[in-house]
Amino acid sequence: MLRPIVATFLLGAVVASVFAAGVGFARAEEPASAISIDNFSFTPATLTVKAGTTVTWTNKDDIPHGIGSANKAFKKSKALDTDESYSFTFTTPGTYQYFCYLHPHMVGSIVVESTTGSVESTTASNATP
Ligand code: CO
Repeated sequence: MLRPIVATFLLGAVVASVFAAGVGFARAEEPASAISIDNFSFTPATLTVKAGTTVTWTNKDDIPHGIGSANKAFKKSKALDTDESYSFTFTTPGTYQYFCYLHPHMVGSIVVESTTGSVESTTASNATP
């Protein structure tokens, strides 16, 4: 199933371009990461990002889904129709559990890591080319 992955990347690029062109964000200062909603599940189910990363959920199913924080750490999305997306910028390190408030069995989590420390250099030296 390569198509959904490619489609997610393409959509992410389009969204990033639109945001950059329309709003003028400094992209280099604002890392972004994407979660795809497909077949009633979140991919990846657990996403690890650095603090300050904007996470965007995109609904690739043909029925609506909605994003809700398990502990109300962030504002819930509206119900997302096909190809609609929702973004939130995670600035505080921690683990954020979320679910689909239309189908509560759909769950996922986001691990937000501190931007300080030596994690980045360790990651870089071990990174797959
Ligand atoms: Co759902």
